[in-house]
Amino acid sequence: MNLILLGAPGAGKGTLAKKIVKDYHIPQVSTGDILRENIKNETPVGKLAKEFIDKGQLVPDEVVIELLKNRLSQDDCKKGFILDGFPRTIAQGKSLENIANIDGVILIDLPFNIIEERIVTRRVCSSCGEIYSTSSYDKNDCKKCGAPLYQRDDDKLETVRNRLEVYDRQTAPLINFYSDRVYRLDGSGSPEDVYARAKTFLDDLEAKSE
Ligand code: AP5
Ligand code: MG
Repeated sequence: MNLILLGAPGAGKGTLAKKIVKDYHIPQVSTGDILRENIKNETPVGKLAKEFIDKGQLVPDEVVIELLKNRLSQDDCKKGFILDGFPRTIAQGKSLENIANIDGVILIDLPFNIIEERIVTRRVCSSCGEIYSTSSYDKNDCKKCGAPLYQRDDDKLETVRNRLEVYDRQTAPLINFYSDRVYRLDGSGSPEDVYARAKTFLDDLEAKSE
């Protein structure tokens, strides 16, 4: 099952992807995580990406497409994958058509005011990547592995507003691009509520793509 998670920054793509990984045994491929790993390791790609990410802008298509192509060529993606944060432009969507077939697209729907609140309260584990919110978990260490939590550099309110604007302009047109296979998922309620709604669609999709 080859799946895309579409949705504004903070809509809950990463949170949902982690639940799907566990039950459907396909990897989460997050271009945001790959770029942040490059930034941490101070690679040339990381240095270039940081300039765009810190301003809330998209990293150039050719850079991200190359990273994605490499990642999808790895063995663990042979049985399927969850794309989280890719594609983000029509050009990326068109390139993807030459790399893989996409079975389904989940669009996580959530009003921007709730999104802003969720992003500014987000904390991420520096080791395993688990995602938390200070509104439901107020400790500084990861519940799963004990490593310290951190706040992403691009999660400041000014940057968040820019990211939402970029989403509207550059990424939202993909909803039409995938109109024949997009499923609108209500992103409100708890992560468990959202996942329960997604599961109906996923079970159906899994049966069809076998
Ligand atoms: P990326 O890392 O992909 O960030 P994003 O799309 O902006 O999305 P986020 O990770 O911020 O949000 P999310 O939807 O994963 O939400 P989450 O589950 O964490 O990209 C970062 C940057 O990299 C981009 O701005 C761009 O510069 C660059 N980039 C990446 N891919 C690119 C590409 N393809 N092309 C070009 N540039 C690219 O949830 C958010 C918060 O809400 C968390 O605190 C979570 O705990 C909480 N939460 C989640 N669900 C719920 C719920 N149901 N109830 C309550 N709280 C919830
Ligand atoms: Mg994410």
